[in-house]
Amino acid sequence: MVRKVVRYLNNPILEQVAEPVTEFDTPELHQLIEDMFETMYKSHGVGLAAPQIAVSKRVTVIDTTGGEEDEEPEQLVLINPQVIAKDGKQTGEEGCLSIPGFREPVRRAKVATVRAQDVKGDWFEITGEDLLARAMQHEIDHLNGILFLSHLSALKRDLIKRKIRKLQKAGEWE
Ligand code: NI
Repeated sequence: MVRKVVRYLNNPILEQVAEPVTEFDTPELHQLIEDMFETMYKSHGVGLAAPQIAVSKRVTVIDTTGGEEDEEPEQLVLINPQVIAKDGKQTGEEGCLSIPGFREPVRRAKVATVRAQDVKGDWFEITGEDLLARAMQHEIDHLNGILFLSHLSALKRDLIKRKIRKLQKAGEWE
């Protein structure tokens, strides 16, 4: 089921630290993950974190192919994830399904290694480069209540906030 994506400034859940998952392989967890992929593909995103659908759980889904029809899906589920190593630097345009219409260059590590649990609760490690590294860092930030705006200058961040407040007032930000 496609869920509603919560937008920045409309719901404080996006700026809260999400709760760890403690029960694995449950129908609820499977459903949550299925819904998250569906919601992400519908919005043409490459990653989604549970707080973005108003669920305060440490769950993210990623597919750097974006679910495009001519590419094989590469679905990655990260539960209770942590970045355990980073290397190098990359700067690239970043957006967020909770802040649609705004894209800004963000500096991230070029390579990131993440330790996480899968849907059954088994721990694994994955190392990603470039877009996958960026997506994992962006999504794990979400679980800590951090949006990509936090990586911008205060000036740029305030400008975007002001624009969003205007859109809110105009009823164009829901
Ligand atoms: Ni995001």
